[in-house]
Amino acid sequence: MKALGAPVEPPILSSCHAAVDAVTKQEVSCCPPYSMAETVDFVPPPLDEPLRVRRPAHKLDKEYVAKFKEGIAKMKALAADDPWNFMQQAAVHCADCDDAYEQVGFNPPVPLQIHGSWLFLPWHRYYTYFYERIIGNLIRDPTLALPYWSWDTPEGMRMPKMLFNESAKRPELFMGKPLVAGEVVPSNASGSLETIHNTVHMWTGASTKPYRDMANFYTTARDIMFFGHHANVDRMWDIYCSIRGHTPEFKQNDWLEASFIFYDENRQVVKCKPRTLTEPIQVLPQRPRTSRTKKEKDEAIEVLVIEGIKVPHGAAARFDIYVAKPMEGQVGPDVGELAGSFVNLPHAHHKFHIKKPKSRLELGIISLVEDIESESSEKLVVIILPRMGEVTIGGVQIVLLKVDDEY
Ligand code: C2O
Repeated sequence: MKALGAPVEPPILSSCHAAVDAVTKQEVSCCPPYSMAETVDFVPPPLDEPLRVRRPAHKLDKEYVAKFKEGIAKMKALAADDPWNFMQQAAVHCADCDDAYEQVGFNPPVPLQIHGSWLFLPWHRYYTYFYERIIGNLIRDPTLALPYWSWDTPEGMRMPKMLFNESAKRPELFMGKPLVAGEVVPSNASGSLETIHNTVHMWTGASTKPYRDMANFYTTARDIMFFGHHANVDRMWDIYCSIRGHTPEFKQNDWLEASFIFYDENRQVVKCKPRTLTEPIQVLPQRPRTSRTKKEKDEAIEVLVIEGIKVPHGAAARFDIYVAKPMEGQVGPDVGELAGSFVNLPHAHHKFHIKKPKSRLELGIISLVEDIESESSEKLVVIILPRMGEVTIGGVQIVLLKVDDEY
């Protein structure tokens, strides 16, 4: 029954109708006030925008807590029909989970549902993303980041490693099974992250009927705990991505082109997709040596090598390479410094099909490493940012080249 090439589309906002509280079976109203607004496509924030660093909720300082509370108070003080209003933001969760919409174009109608499948992670990522930016706007702080509730790590409690290992090669085990347009979410399509997340919802919410607050999708996002919870789910997804070396989890169009709708921090209705193909790749190559002396640096240059670069015949392509300092040996929030670019200008096909060798890019990085104060780091974060065209790369490494060696 699964139609291939059928990514789930965002709902038609004007078709919103009463939702149902799954527990009491009562009709509730969760429709957004912007049903007639024009929709634009989501554009990721510019790279030079200040980075928002999410911190664990148990480690926040007073100043941050005061700021965050002020933001929430401002959301609550907005007009009841303002899409940024606290209850309106909570209703977004209700509308997309409690049957306020149907999927576009199916008869009999298929309810829209963003839980229980691979849609769970990207939808909630956008949801927390816009919530964070709306609060930041209200208190005029472009660096405001949601705190995350670190339920996986309090004092040595860790997320079972096993879970990652088992599922690293089968993303659907972790992230959820495919869901294509026209399909009703089956009962067994959640990934392990969503399941763990459900346990936390249950544990936090009311334990008796009608299971209010965190325990019911209809009311859950009225509890600020929800956003701390989802900031952590989002962090888990990010950890999972680095365990997989940032290789895309799913390649199907049904995943890449599934889309959602949110009301953003600029009062614009935007259409968002799980993953843009221009997402940066981050790698952590080992350096051959650390803390070299001036003399050693004069004798051998530290070079970043991007090998096996492949561009389709004659096509235009470009990617930029940034180098950043790792944080505790891992990829941190730092976006680093520009080390160089790879550019392939469009050119004609070879007349005879000569097999072109793959390209290799070498960039000297001695002064860059000094600039980012990473001379003593064992590894460096290398960020490859696709800018144009289709390029694949074979690998990234750091080597030392003696200056007096013959080329
Ligand atoms: Cu939309 Cu934590 O659920």
